[in-house]
Amino acid sequence: MLNLVFSILAQIFEKMYNSRIAGLGYYLPENKVTNDQLSEFMDTSDEWIQERTGIQERRYAKKHEETTTTMGARAAEKAIQDAGIDKTDVDFIIFATLSPDYFFPGCGVLVQRELGITDTEIGAIDIRNQCTGFVYGLSVADQFVKTGMYKNVLLIGSEMHSMGLDFNTRGRNVTVIFGDGAGAAIIQPTEDNQKGILTTHLHSNGTNAEELAMITPGSHGGYHLGKEKFGFPDEDDLGGIYITQKMIDDHLIYPNMNGPLVFKTAVKKFPEVIKEALNKTGLSPTDIDMLIPHQANLRISQFVQRSLGLRDDQVHNNIMKYGNTTAASIPIALTEARDQGKIKEGDLVCLAAFGSGFTWGSALIRW
Ligand code: UT7
Repeated sequence: MLNLVFSILAQIFEKMYNSRIAGLGYYLPENKVTNDQLSEFMDTSDEWIQERTGIQERRYAKKHEETTTTMGARAAEKAIQDAGIDKTDVDFIIFATLSPDYFFPGCGVLVQRELGITDTEIGAIDIRNQCTGFVYGLSVADQFVKTGMYKNVLLIGSEMHSMGLDFNTRGRNVTVIFGDGAGAAIIQPTEDNQKGILTTHLHSNGTNAEELAMITPGSHGGYHLGKEKFGFPDEDDLGGIYITQKMIDDHLIYPNMNGPLVFKTAVKKFPEVIKEALNKTGLSPTDIDMLIPHQANLRISQFVQRSLGLRDDQVHNNIMKYGNTTAASIPIALTEARDQGKIKEGDLVCLAAFGSGFTWGSALIRW
């Protein structure tokens, strides 16, 4: 009987692989936008932005020519090439974004079309977890690959914020932070169970959902915050509307953010979720060779670095050049760090993110 149990267990474990990042790539639009350029549109300054966020410039995509999907596709092509596979080998697509081309369908199917791989009719899902989109997507990919379901998962994080920001003083706290860009990874199985994705940890708490959000247009009909605020009519009839004239007139069609609350929560949750991953694997902060924090704000990254007792060479930040690219920030920074020789085989790499939802998460990878 015991033998039977062991043989069933052995069969199960034989089919379990670790998953690893086999290819990486990123795409950044050419157009650089400096803090001084932003101050032509709103009451802000290079000094304020650098002091509070560390950001010096960001990239904006070419309106009407580039989209979240096209940037994601360009990053994906690089990751596919980096993994040494053909685009037709991709057997599943995960697309993380908060700035999709369409309300629906998602960017997953659009990027499949953009890459010219519709013939394979593989599955595609969109992840709507904002700043933690890449970490959530990595965890989903990890589960699919570990169980043997897929062998080449294409994971993309891409954002075109510039199309939907408020270029006016009233939107300055949000607008100065965000930039456009895309990053991608190919997730494959590995039989080396010492390597690859060691653990992922995902969390959320919707209590403050509206404190970092773009809530209109949407199907809420005023349910959460009141009908009047959004100009919904009192009478009940069939059907409704996602967007009202009042939303446009009152500038409610832009993202809004309670910056101090986001900051305060982020500096608590980042270290917490990193320590959770370390505890799970029996490791400690000193074991981390490279921390890639979601590039939310340089001050947040520095706070996290200090609270974990990490040296400068153990953390990679690039928010100074690209701003906060939300779901794209981790794959861009990860690719950049690897390309700069900051990540070597055998290194312990930690990814961590916090953002809208609120959602947060971490992943530990043995490179
Ligand atoms: O991926 C997650 C995404 N979000 C974040 O990570 C954001 C986290 N939070 C932050 O990074 C910071 O809260 C901000 C950088 C957004 C804002 O910095 P802060 O020190 O928290 O400023 P605040 O919102 O408390 O505002 C302080 C002042 C206000 O003026 P008054 O009321 O004191 O006169 C703001 O109106 O700074 C003003 N302000 C600005 N001034 C110049 C807000 N944005 C700007 C701006 N330029 N861009």
